Amino acid sequence: MAEKKLFVTQPNLPPLDEFIPYLEDIWQSRVLTNGGPMHQRLEQSLCEYLGVDHLALFNNGTIALLVALQALRITGEVITTPYSFVATAHSLLWRGIKPVFVDIDPLSMNLDPALIEAAITPHTTAIMPVHCYGNPCDVEQIQRIADTYNLRVIYDAAHAFGVRDAGGSVLRHGDLSVLSFHATKVFNTFEGGAIICPDAQTKQRIDQLKNFGITDEVSVVAPGINGKMNEISAAFGLLQLEYIEQSMAARRQIDTWYRVGLAGIPGIRCAQVFAGGKANYSYFPVLVDPQYSLKRDELYALLKSNEIYARRYFFPLISEFSMYQGMPSAHRGNLPHATQVSARVLCLPIYPDLTEADVERVVEVIRRAA
Ligand SMILES: Cc1ncc(COP(=O)(O)O)c(C=O)c1O
Repeated sequence: MAEKKLFVTQPNLPPLDEFIPYLEDIWQSRVLTNGGPMHQRLEQSLCEYLGVDHLALFNNGTIALLVALQALRITGEVITTPYSFVATAHSLLWRGIKPVFVDIDPLSMNLDPALIEAAITPHTTAIMPVHCYGNPCDVEQIQRIADTYNLRVIYDAAHAFGVRDAGGSVLRHGDLSVLSFHATKVFNTFEGGAIICPDAQTKQRIDQLKNFGITDEVSVVAPGINGKMNEISAAFGLLQLEYIEQSMAARRQIDTWYRVGLAGIPGIRCAQVFAGGKANYSYFPVLVDPQYSLKRDELYALLKSNEIYARRYFFPLISEFSMYQGMPSAHRGNLPHATQVSARVLCLPIYPDLTEADVERVVEVIRRAA
């Protein structure tokens, strides 16, 4: 019998029959988008669940990043990480901003605050760190630097849905935080995203910018974009939210199965999980060190031949794509830790429906080759 294919992730889908009443409501209202009732309900429910005061929904995380940069009028140069999904730096290019890459801390895999100051120039206006894999950045150090040099901080929090540190939601840090609700994320609305706003005034400006810059029937105050979330996505988010705790608990269990199963395999190192609050277990990255019998790409291929589709997140580094490669900060010598982690990392399957037997199957392939 052909083995079940195990993908790095699989979207969490609530029972279809539970979604029908939401669709009936939409058909009844005939409001399909433009901040309709589902949109309003989801904004409120997410604020409550995440523990934040103001949030603006978007049609995806990338447009939300663009609008966050526009809302804060960021220009010039922005310090960011090369170890992320390409949308992080692309959002800067779309706004005509120059990304300046700074290396990561090899343990947290987040921007290393100790290296930020050296990258600041008279053109620097902001820092865009990523809470990679949902592990919080060193938010205090980053804020200290931002305060000293009068910089803004926009967190790409695409991976950090539901993550809490000792003081509450990790999304409260910085000037703005941006979420993605893409199908592959812990919480999804098929496509979607959000900006966490510090106050009602900022939310109002962001809401205008995501609706073409329109303020009333006859006024357009800025070159805004179409960033609105539609009613079907918002309704799906409402239903999805009812299952989020269950889904996080399943992920947590899978994380434990992997850690127990992989313990003691020479050269396989599980990335550290954030311990200072509530993690979301959005990814399960391992590092394939030289003591392991296979190189990372060989293990990737071996898993694939066993119908296990791990992913090399994040390889190549953003700084290695042609549109960034020529920038001085993109030079590998400037990014030794990111370069090394990127060459060794492999994200193993993790999603709520993965069974203990599935995890054992993945672990067995890795163990047998050791
Ligand atoms: C770190 C990071 N930033 C930005 C994005 C872009 O989000 P979206 O796909 O919702 O546009 C993603 C994921 O897709 C991501 O992983």
